[in-house]
Amino acid sequence: MTERIRLVVDGKPTLLDADPALPLLYALRSELGLNNPKFGCGLAQCGACTVHVDGQPTRSCVMPVGAVRGKTITTIAGLGTPDQPHPLQAAYIAEQVPQCGYCLSGWMMTAAALLRDRPRPTDAQIREALAGLKCRCGTHMAILRAVKRAATS
Ligand code: FES
Ligand code: FES
Repeated sequence: MTERIRLVVDGKPTLLDADPALPLLYALRSELGLNNPKFGCGLAQCGACTVHVDGQPTRSCVMPVGAVRGKTITTIAGLGTPDQPHPLQAAYIAEQVPQCGYCLSGWMMTAAALLRDRPRPTDAQIREALAGLKCRCGTHMAILRAVKRAATS
């Protein structure tokens, strides 16, 4: 049954009429037209759908929208702006990371939470935080360079 669900998405108070069991990813993409979080596996295995829920990286493909009622959702579009990019966004450009870009949202949202909590992570901490994310284009080394660049910027 449809219910009215209140969220804050990328800084904007948002009302949504949706089945509370609808995955947050579907709500963001289909109901709100935000296509940055991607559908990869739908099983919490690849990370392409990762967004922040109250600051925590969350795989939105398996998170019912009813479970995040009243919470703050941040997608990659809410990290920065073209004029004022997040340090990771600037570093991704500087390191020319993306190939197809499909995985980008998951890696960047996960790394953004890492840098917020550990502004100067070691290589091992970066690898541990990003373990479990998938990039079929094989950009892993470029991603590591970008996270390190962002950490020292
Ligand atoms: S689509 Fe959510 S983890 Fe793969
Ligand atoms: S850049 Fe293509 S899947 Fe990662």
